[in-house]
Amino acid sequence: GDNVHPYALPWAHSGPFSSFDIASVRRGYEVYKQVCAACHSMKFLHYRHFVDTIMTEEEAKAEAADALINDVDDKGAAIQRPGILTDKLPNPYPNKKAAAAANNGAAPPDLSLMALARHGGDDYVFSLLTGYLEAPAGVKVRIGVDDGKAYNPYFPGGIISMPQQLFDEGIEYKDGTPATMSQQAKDVSAFMHWAAEPFHDTRKKWALKIAALIPFVAVVLIYGKRNIWSFTK
Ligand code: HEM
Repeated sequence: GDNVHPYALPWAHSGPFSSFDIASVRRGYEVYKQVCAACHSMKFLHYRHFVDTIMTEEEAKAEAADALINDVDDKGAAIQRPGILTDKLPNPYPNKKAAAAANNGAAPPDLSLMALARHGGDDYVFSLLTGYLEAPAGVKVRIGVDDGKAYNPYFPGGIISMPQQLFDEGIEYKDGTPATMSQQAKDVSAFMHWAAEPFHDTRKKWALKIAALIPFVAVVLIYGKRNIWSFTK
């Protein structure tokens, strides 16, 4: 089917000098951990990335300790242990084959860079997560063939192997924000963008500093030039 264009949403971080809404990014991590992490990895993200960005060191250590990490003991036997800051966030599946087998043949893609990978970026992720609909007349989600698939006009082709994930009050936020479907979609999109672009805020802060200096540098250069070339009068 024809694709529907995503909404154009007023993200806190979308201006040239604007930073992430850290409270939203933190809530987005709660959504990722409680909902998405059952199927999706974020393989470029380590717990240490949370320290002094979206969490205190203590909070990040507690998050890591809360996760079960696959490892080997001294004798090479497979074990699971609580995580530490240098660990990656755990992958829900041992490999792509197992991931595909558990999801009707479509492996859930890694979400580390997903906010930047798809056309439409954050707007696409938000629209996709909130865009599940009854298949319209003429579009068949075929029983038996498309089991586990759903209709979503934002997904290329319209039929996606990820069922609807977000529901009003599907989770509870630690900060008490009402966890509507759209609130969760907004927060997890912000979290995914934050994860994909860790130096986003630093980059924009420097852009602002340099932009603020340009008029002064320009004045010095213009008067300097006039002075240097004044002998030609
Ligand atoms: C695909 C996000 C939860 C299974 C995707 C895609 C995104 C995404 C952005 C890529 C769509 C594309 O290719 O354009 C999320 C988020 C989640 C979440 C933010 C949590 C809120 C889940 C869960 C499952 C799952 C819990 C498993 C039950 C899949 C599968 C695909 C997919 C199988 C591949 C779909 C296809 O290619 O047809 N997800 N997901 N997702 N997701 Fe999720």
